[in-house]
Amino acid sequence: MSGLHVAIAGATGAVGAEFLRLLEKRSYPIAKLSLLASKRSVGKTLRFRGEKIAVEELTLDAFAGVEHAFFSAGASQSKVFAPAATAAGAVVIDNSSAFRYVDGIPLVIPEINPDDAFTHKGVIANPNCTTIVALMAAGPLHRAFGLRRAVMSSYQAISGAGAQAMAELERQVHDWAAGRPLQVKQQPKQIAFNVIPRIDAVQDNFYTKEEMKFLWEGKKILHHPALLATATCVRVPVFRSHAVSLNLEFEKPVTRQTALDVLNKAAGLQVHGRRPTRKGRRAQRRTDRRAAPAREVTPPSAPSFARKRMRGARGRDVRPERPRRTGVAASRR
Ligand SMILES: NC(=O)c1ccc[n+]([C@@H]2O[C@H](COP(=O)([O-])OP(=O)(O)OC[C@H]3O[C@@H](n4cnc5c(N)ncnc54)[C@H](OP(=O)(O)O)[C@@H]3O)[C@@H](O)[C@H]2O)c1
Repeated sequence: MSGLHVAIAGATGAVGAEFLRLLEKRSYPIAKLSLLASKRSVGKTLRFRGEKIAVEELTLDAFAGVEHAFFSAGASQSKVFAPAATAAGAVVIDNSSAFRYVDGIPLVIPEINPDDAFTHKGVIANPNCTTIVALMAAGPLHRAFGLRRAVMSSYQAISGAGAQAMAELERQVHDWAAGRPLQVKQQPKQIAFNVIPRIDAVQDNFYTKEEMKFLWEGKKILHHPALLATATCVRVPVFRSHAVSLNLEFEKPVTRQTALDVLNKAAGLQVHGRRPTRKGRRAQRRTDRRAAPAREVTPPSAPSFARKRMRGARGRDVRPERPRRTGVAASRR
């Protein structure tokens, strides 16, 4: 069978399971798949395209013949085993934080900076999950309007902490419902029915590392060293899917409509939301007018001059139209 020899280092973990699902879903051209994890998992099997594949131990010799190696076994494992994989001729796509901030190693979100991937010298780093979610929207807006400052708040599912943390949330919910005492091992505090505003280690500046990743990675991915950003990252008790709130400030003026035009065309994004009410549209127009580029104000020499300025090239009135009450708008209020 033609195709690539692919390896997944960390195949039994939460990210490993997603790798398997996506490689299958996207019909990745695979002739041979090596599933690697710790000694603990040797003897287990995982399913891929309907077949059971035995898990092997992640060792320095495990990459002979491997062409693409997806790594999700943690940063310390990546630092030890990724060089062995590249030495064996594989291209490593690393999901950990091991190489994200290393100069010369591209940090890539395919929808945002795909060209960077082609500068790799054996390793392509994958950003933090929250950085990806936030930049999928902020990246296209930055290209259009020039991002100056970002304030990000995240609500991160327990899946981001790995398979054992997901199991802990489930156990805590069962124990809580049964009136049993809850065991806390994977997270700094009980996660069931709780939110934890601390993800990863607290830094000297009192931000957590997870919060700093947004700034460090944002600068590198957007090629924007002057980016200003602040983040608050919170773990929430849901199994999957992170949510992010972004407040962005741009160099150029932005209106709701111009932002929507950009987001609607952006790769990998779906824009949801209902049409604003009549009152909301009026308030929006006031905000948009304030955001509109400041015109040079020259005192008109005659009233007719001012009237001319309000007309377009073909003499059309370019003043914002007054909203018309339509059946649809009225029924949506
Ligand atoms: N979860 C996410 O949403 C997410 C997103 C982006 C990046 N990441 C990064 O991806 C990495 C994995 O995350 P995860 O959530 O998948 O963690 P996880 O569920 O805990 O899985 C860890 C995987 O690494 C393997 N592993 C651990 N120690 C090992 C060792 N000493 N030797 C060989 N294999 C070892 C585990 O094998 P065993 O099963 O045999 O222990 C398992 O396959 C982390 O660096 C994480 O920061 C995670």
